Amino acid sequence: MKSTFVSAALVASTAAFPHLAVEKKGVPAGSAHKRVLERATQPQGGAAGVPAPLLPPVFDAASQRIDVNGSHAFVAPGAGDARGPCPGLNAMANHNYLPHNGVATITEFIAATTSVFGMGVDLATFLATYGAILDGDGTSWSIAGGSHVGIGGSHGNYETDSSPTRGDLDQYGSNSDLVLSQFKTLYDMQPDAATANYNIEVLRTFRETRFQESISKNPYFSYQPVAGMLVSQAAFTFIYRFMANHSAEAPEGILNKDVLKSFFSITGDDDNLKWTPGHEQIPYNWYRRNTLDAYTIPYYILYFAAENPEFLLVGCNQGEVNTYNTISASTLSNGAYTVAQAAANPTCFATEFAIAELPGLTGLSGSLVNSLTGAITGVTGALGGCQGISKVNTSALTACPGFALYGGPTGPVAKGAVQS
Ligand SMILES: *[C@@H]1O[C@H](CO)[C@@H](O)[C@H](O)[C@H]1NC(C)=O
Ligand SMILES: *[C@@H]1O[C@H](CO)[C@@H](O)[C@H](O)[C@H]1NC(C)=O
Ligand SMILES: *[C@@H]1O[C@H](CO)[C@@H](O)[C@H](O)[C@H]1NC(C)=O
Repeated sequence: MKSTFVSAALVASTAAFPHLAVEKKGVPAGSAHKRVLERATQPQGGAAGVPAPLLPPVFDAASQRIDVNGSHAFVAPGAGDARGPCPGLNAMANHNYLPHNGVATITEFIAATTSVFGMGVDLATFLATYGAILDGDGTSWSIAGGSHVGIGGSHGNYETDSSPTRGDLDQYGSNSDLVLSQFKTLYDMQPDAATANYNIEVLRTFRETRFQESISKNPYFSYQPVAGMLVSQAAFTFIYRFMANHSAEAPEGILNKDVLKSFFSITGDDDNLKWTPGHEQIPYNWYRRNTLDAYTIPYYILYFAAENPEFLLVGCNQGEVNTYNTISASTLSNGAYTVAQAAANPTCFATEFAIAELPGLTGLSGSLVNSLTGAITGVTGALGGCQGISKVNTSALTACPGFALYGGPTGPVAKGAVQS
């Protein structure tokens, strides 16, 4: 399935890897934080030639335990409450860490994601602001959503194809419903409940499986710069980085079957799993990552890409399954980035592409454009600055029938789609 184009990028991106230069820029120097970041950017498991992982921060039970009692006890959503495709956000609304109605302000999203999951302030600020501008009213947005609004209506700018557990919009006619076969594929990747740990390497393999599944089952599979390269990668890493349970024995975190099921609102025995929409729960006696180890922007893409450089290339199926073609970053950016540069700096390419592309395509007002640009340059600043793109060539995307910026939460099923 890998084209020669992908192979060329493989050479380019792995050649860039030993340095991991992009990941280290913008991190406070000399601190415990830096050590932690170095650890987190090393592939785990100690592959040949890779330095052994450094130690994660010492477990701190009092600060890492998340309260699910009293005012944070689980309350299932009622008829008027918004719940959508993101299990973590649904869980926080169910536990009153976000407003129970599922509509929250930028400030509330940042406070909740940093305190409950240990997301870095930089990443939380970007995700919250980007969502509120593109998918909300500029200051708040819904974790469910309707046409052109909320995460459910953000297909192509935020929510996207080849998600871990949610269906591809054009494959299933919904981008918000969990597809049990997708969950089961992940679930079965750790057969022994006693030792199960859905760690970052398991998630990388699952990400590859899901990417190939979209190519072979969704005629309109579309993998776009921000939603695909950036947000979609993040969604996979988030499962382990944010849902794992931490302890003194396992300070890096273990994500076992029960915790995974709780966060995805799955009940039942292994051969009879059942999904209940919107009932995601933070488990009782669950400990998030140490905030000294907050999950920041520089962490999160390159680990997958070292093994799977195709995740860093824009591409799409062209109306039929298995017609996936990559689209050159050079073409898309009118030559501002070469293919190798985009593969080596995917976050730069995707964010600069968004700065150039989104104002024109979304028709945002001047002040919202400024806020969006500000949110995005917060990301590129964390990376130490990026090469700008003055003009995008979106005509290359006309080859992609699934290209959209505001699809969902429901839509027609594409002719030739394969469901499972
Ligand atoms: C806290 O909530 C958990 C989960 O619902 C429950 O099992 C436990 O008994 C509660 N503890 C207190 C002190 O209410
Ligand atoms: C998290 O790990 C600790 C230590 O092993 C354990 O006591 C606790 O029950 C675990 N929490 C969950 C939700 O599995
Ligand atoms: C823009 O993209 C189209 C379609 O791929 C291509 O034919 C054209 O040459 C590109 N324009 C530039 C200036 O690269």
